[in-house]
Amino acid sequence: MKAEVFHLVDVLQTQEAAMLQVEVACRDECVLDREQVLNVIRRAFGRESTANYVKRLDEEGRIFKSIVAIENDRVIGHIVYTLLPVEVDGKPVRAIGLSCLSVDPEKQSLGVGSRLIKHSLPLVAQAGMAAVIVLGHPRYYPRFGFSAEIAQKLKAPFSGKPSFMALELVPNALQGSSGSVEYAPVYLEE
Ligand SMILES: CC(C)(COP(=O)(O)OP(=O)(O)OC[C@H]1O[C@@H](n2cnc3c(N)ncnc32)[C@H](O)[C@@H]1OP(=O)(O)O)[C@@H](O)C(=O)NCCC(=O)NCCS
Repeated sequence: MKAEVFHLVDVLQTQEAAMLQVEVACRDECVLDREQVLNVIRRAFGRESTANYVKRLDEEGRIFKSIVAIENDRVIGHIVYTLLPVEVDGKPVRAIGLSCLSVDPEKQSLGVGSRLIKHSLPLVAQAGMAAVIVLGHPRYYPRFGFSAEIAQKLKAPFSGKPSFMALELVPNALQGSSGSVEYAPVYLEE
């Protein structure tokens, strides 16, 4: 693993320990968590369609990593990364999408979402990913290093929107004169 990635892992893990305001453990989702995960997504977004979207991502075999936040044996948060073909200057980039982040409404603004991101990004980097793409709140994700500017050159249905952001886990992974993100239909239906 490159030195820059080690540095990112250190920074994120230190921030993660400092920010948490509840006793939460993060671990990979297992089969037994599934119903609780779907409930957290339903409650966080206040609708069924986002839970169905995550189910479809799973059914279509797109999930790269799915992590839960557990408090007292109960799932209170969830983050899922999915495979997302990205190319820059005609060359494939090892990139994934941060496709859904949910925290139970009773546990929001306590650091759980941040913990999930800071726990998972180093794992994603260690797994060899060079970049992460997100379509999300422009006031939330920049604190973790996501930037609309980095995503600007990538052609996608969301190009140019402030909510379309990217994070380079490997420096300059997305630098080039042009590039694109290929969204499968499931991403566009949510
Ligand atoms: C967005 C969400 C994942 C954040 O997780 P969380 O555990 O509540 O947030 P954290 O405790 O890590 O961070 C709190 C910060 O996030 C901000 N925040 C929370 N929800 C936000 C939102 N919808 N938009 C922008 N900022 C938000 C808070 O204002 C707070 O900011 P501050 O640190 O400057 O005070 C969570 O609130 C949630 O599940 N929301 C509903 C579903 C959703 O919108 N998911 C994200 C889709 S991109």
